[in-house]
Amino acid sequence: MVKVIVCIGSYCHLKGSKQVVDRFRELIARDHLEDQVELAGTFCMGICKDDVSVTVDGESFSVSPDTADSFFAEHIAAKISA
Ligand code: FES
Repeated sequence: MVKVIVCIGSYCHLKGSKQVVDRFRELIARDHLEDQVELAGTFCMGICKDDVSVTVDGESFSVSPDTADSFFAEHIAAKISA
């Protein structure tokens, strides 16, 4: 199970955290990964950066709505197939 946490704190919200969460949800459904990816939200993680703060199994990243698809493929789907 890959644990993905998306920050929905005010800074990340302004950067598009809702779009990132919605897109991850769509991609999880598209690839039938409901049993393999746990998606959760959290308030400010204290790592406000350029884009939306996301952690994957505790490793932190900065993701914009525009890069959500490639991020999902590289850092989430890739972990499952690995
Ligand atoms: S608001 Fe997202 S890390 Fe601070």
